[in-house]
Amino acid sequence: MAVRRTGIGAVASRALLLAALAAFTLTACATGEGTTGTGEALAPPPADAPYRDATLAPAARAADLLGYMTLDEKIGQMIQIDRQFLANDAHITEYALGSLLSGGGSVPEPNTPEAWADMIDGYQRRALETRLAIPLLYGVDAVHGHNNLVGATIFPHNVGLGATGNAALVGETARITALEAAAVGVNWSFSPSIAVPQDIRWGRTYEGFSEDAELVAEMGAAYVTGMQGPGGIADPAAGVGQDDRILATLKHFIGDGGTAGGRDQGDVPYPLAEAMERFAEPYRAGLAAGAGSVMATFNSIEGEKVHGSAEVLDGALRGELGFDGLVVSDWAAIRQIPIPPMQQVARAVNAGIDLIMVPDDYVGTRLELKGAVNTGLIPVARIDEAVLRILEVKFALGLFEDPFAPRHLIAEIGSADHRAVARQAVRESVVVLKNEGALLPLAGRFEAPAASDGASGARSAPVILVAGERADDIGAQSGGWTLTWQGFRGNRIPGTTIAAAFSAWAAGDGEVAPIVLFRPRGELAPDDPTPDVVVAVIGENPYAEGQGDSGRLALPPTDMALLRRAASHDAPLVTVLLTGRPVVVPEVFELSDAVAAAWLPGTEGAGVVDVLVGAAPATGTLPFTWPVEPGVLPLQATEPATGVLFPRGFGITYDAVEGALR
Ligand code: BGC
Ligand code: BGC
Repeated sequence: MAVRRTGIGAVASRALLLAALAAFTLTACATGEGTTGTGEALAPPPADAPYRDATLAPAARAADLLGYMTLDEKIGQMIQIDRQFLANDAHITEYALGSLLSGGGSVPEPNTPEAWADMIDGYQRRALETRLAIPLLYGVDAVHGHNNLVGATIFPHNVGLGATGNAALVGETARITALEAAAVGVNWSFSPSIAVPQDIRWGRTYEGFSEDAELVAEMGAAYVTGMQGPGGIADPAAGVGQDDRILATLKHFIGDGGTAGGRDQGDVPYPLAEAMERFAEPYRAGLAAGAGSVMATFNSIEGEKVHGSAEVLDGALRGELGFDGLVVSDWAAIRQIPIPPMQQVARAVNAGIDLIMVPDDYVGTRLELKGAVNTGLIPVARIDEAVLRILEVKFALGLFEDPFAPRHLIAEIGSADHRAVARQAVRESVVVLKNEGALLPLAGRFEAPAASDGASGARSAPVILVAGERADDIGAQSGGWTLTWQGFRGNRIPGTTIAAAFSAWAAGDGEVAPIVLFRPRGELAPDDPTPDVVVAVIGENPYAEGQGDSGRLALPPTDMALLRRAASHDAPLVTVLLTGRPVVVPEVFELSDAVAAAWLPGTEGAGVVDVLVGAAPATGTLPFTWPVEPGVLPLQATEPATGVLFPRGFGITYDAVEGALR
């Protein structure tokens, strides 16, 4: 926080402040603190304590509050657990916990906005029962909308947003994501991922906007501004202090997308300096946009786990990039540092982790953290620095004034306005890769008499066969990080599937109403009319993180079988791909007359159909190089690459057809 808006003076004064605070804490320790539990016996600070004054700057309030804290209270602030591991809600008070999260699928029952708000407000009330009444940071992975909540607007995953090339639109999606999360009491999202995936075999490729760092930087910065507001963390009144804005997280620092073989939680096989050259640009842009937090990566760099590396977190992030905000660890990631538990905690905190995403054993982690301080493994000044950053964020968010859900915003969750923005994002994300005989847009084709017209020349309704189970599957079109960590199949959340959107389009006003046949197996029923065009929808099954690592980049056999059946009809074939990345399936291009990559569009499948029929123009371009086969990976973006089927930036474009929006 401070570094972006201050010079040497402020850094020096913070150092002095820290020295003074360290001295204070030592005194407190000497008077027997550390044996008094969480300090309930101590009196609360005076009613006129400066930290209670909302007119003071967050940094000043944080510094004042820190002065009243016992070691146990400080340690509690540095602990973050997933709510599913909270043995008893009273533990929030008992251990003076600083932060909770909902990991993928960690949701209340029922999964409604009201239940979310009740749940998080309930946790906040527990936090307010502590001696110092410090509210909680509540984090979620709102990576394409507030995606754990049934009824939320689900946007395309970042790969699709990258294909739009439209930073302003990306900012809008982030603004809406923030609002829909804020409405239920969430104040922090672990997004955006600003990975720059260099090897699409990586299961998190779809969480990245592009293989091109410059495009990622532009999109990431727009996302941060949309989520936090233009004031970011430094100017809360125009930023994170507003009701409908939340704290964003740049993740995962650093080298995401650079691991050998595209392995998740893998090793970046070259030095930090080179990793910074390839991956730091989006961090510079995101920090300039005011991002308030950064998450460390599971990766190692040349064999050293980033979570234990002072060179990476203190040197590169704090030093080189000048970030002085909150650094959060990833899910149990400190446990991967190959040393004993108490040392893991010490190594990570000393390296630069401020808040530990435990996410389960808060009792043990707390004891280890305390033990590490008491045995001198972690200097108290380092604890104070971490806690100051956490408190400063909480003050900036306005949590001390009101930590509760702004429930008046709940009515806007999943609203028609929000879905319209998502639909627009989907429209702009579709990349047309092949279009023989200008088969697309379909509406243009249907202006001429359809093949089924008789010799009389009278126009009969064109018949569109929509083939494949994925054409009616919100889960398949949303991918991982939707409702659960790994996503789901089927129609478990509200939205519009591709088949439903085709039917809705056909039912609209128009001279000749097309007939839409949805056949999940791609086979015609005996009484079905002959199709004029077949639209096959195939794709990858939903996945997240390492479960999506793939050496083959293939499609499921059932989808290939469907594709072949779809191609067997005597009609031109349009294939729609629902995938998180380019897939290497030559047969798709051989069998299809037209191919459109729709990525993982989310709940608003109508945006895909808009482009196919010509209600919207085709404008999307590839955010990733499309390889001919996995063996050529990783492609070097800088060299004239070999093994390229379609280069990054490729995309066949066409205009909308007048009157196509029926
Ligand atoms: C992921 C993070 C995510 C965290 C919390 C981890 O497994 O790597 O991106 O923010 O879980 O769900
Ligand atoms: C959680 C995710 C988390 C993952 C890490 C899952 O159980 O739901 O949020 O990212 O574990 O392994």
